[in-house]
Amino acid sequence: MLPSALRWTGWSVGRHFALGMLGATLALAPFAAHAAGDAAKGKTLFETNCASCHGTSGKGDGPVGAALQPPPRDFTIGDFKLDTDKDGKPGTDTDLMNVIANGAAAYGGSAMMAPWGHLSEQDRADLVAYVRSLHK
Ligand code: HEC
Repeated sequence: MLPSALRWTGWSVGRHFALGMLGATLALAPFAAHAAGDAAKGKTLFETNCASCHGTSGKGDGPVGAALQPPPRDFTIGDFKLDTDKDGKPGTDTDLMNVIANGAAAYGGSAMMAPWGHLSEQDRADLVAYVRSLHK
């Protein structure tokens, strides 16, 4: 049995630790979740880098994409294939960020979906926001 003063200290430290962790988690949340994407900026990036395959409307029918097998993903359907973090849910923001950064081949998909890791994380978040906005 601990002297009551010690137990009190332990409880108090534990409680402060818990509150501290909660504070840290809340403070970190906006960073842990991806930087919010700007779909308008994403549209410009998409038209420059992605539309040749994915098509300006995102249907996967761009001039280059038309010849590819498997075809570029049709973003108007909003159905994604790759589960990059293996959480059982393909097509989360994390998955789309990873596919764009590292390419589909890194996750068992087509090498035609090349890595775009030279784009900044913000650019990729903007692209994800735009890709999401194409879902009809
Ligand atoms: C050279 C053609 C090509 C270009 C350019 C291209 N993609 Fe793709 N993309 C593909 C193909 C092909 C797939 C399908 C991959 C598969 O099924 O394995 C794909 C799939 C995807 C997926 C779906 C992944 C999934 O889990 O279903 C996303 C998201 C994506 N591309 C985003 C982009 C973005 C953003 C750009 C521009 C920065 C881009 N792509 C440029 C060909 C391309």
